[in-house]
Amino acid sequence: MFSKEELLNGLTTSVLGNKLFLFETIDSTNRCAKTLAEAGVEEGAIVLAESQSEGRGRLGRAWVSEAGKNLLFSCLLRPNIEKDQSGLLTFFAAAAVARALEQSTALRVECKWPNDLLLNGRKCCGILLEIAFRNRALDFAVLGIGVNVNQREFGTDLRRSATSLAREAGRAFDRKQLFQQIVKELDAMYSDVKQNQFSRIMMEWNSRCTMYGREVQVNRSGTIISGKAVGLHDDGGLVLQTATGPEIVYAGDVTVIAP
Ligand code: BTN
Repeated sequence: MFSKEELLNGLTTSVLGNKLFLFETIDSTNRCAKTLAEAGVEEGAIVLAESQSEGRGRLGRAWVSEAGKNLLFSCLLRPNIEKDQSGLLTFFAAAAVARALEQSTALRVECKWPNDLLLNGRKCCGILLEIAFRNRALDFAVLGIGVNVNQREFGTDLRRSATSLAREAGRAFDRKQLFQQIVKELDAMYSDVKQNQFSRIMMEWNSRCTMYGREVQVNRSGTIISGKAVGLHDDGGLVLQTATGPEIVYAGDVTVIAP
């Protein structure tokens, strides 16, 4: 089990990590961070747990993670950004975490729309953004980050699609160092977010996205949309070139079906 002191020791950030709430087991770090946000806790707070009993993923799915092997945490942010930019926070988190993972592992980290990070084509990190508005302005955002670090085995349903840093690099990683590296990168990029400067973030995300120019299928609540992924819309939607013209998708699961 981590201690607060070891996780924060030497961490010199300006916003992220100004408060740390640490749990051995919790239902969901996202849920806890939302409760803290509603109670008025200031931005920068991080909730980290060694295991979650009800870890949440996108599209109502569960996020399952072996206790004590990975990184499971949520960051509370209150950026003063436009409502229609709030979806871009996912790309901010993905770009910052990708940078940190690449620095720590020397492996190439790919971004998959909207919120997955991949190593050698398999998912090693998922990001869950949850947002609350007040009077049509953003009140707070919770960025939940799950990184598969030292877990080696995955259940049958995930065996083909999931991986971890340890599996891909062939060695174990120091989770404390990795946590600090991720928080450092998030903090550094957050200054762009606070100034409504998403262009550098989007450029970085785009440079890591390997879907462009490829035929994909997006499963949107059972409706399949097929087309070539050609880029991101300004608000973070994925632009597809379909047989009937361009289409922008905002939610769903993407499968790359052709190179
Ligand atoms: C996804 O890929 O579906 C998103 C997964 C996000 C998982 C993380 S783990 C820490 C935080 N707490 C949660 O309950 N979910 C996020």
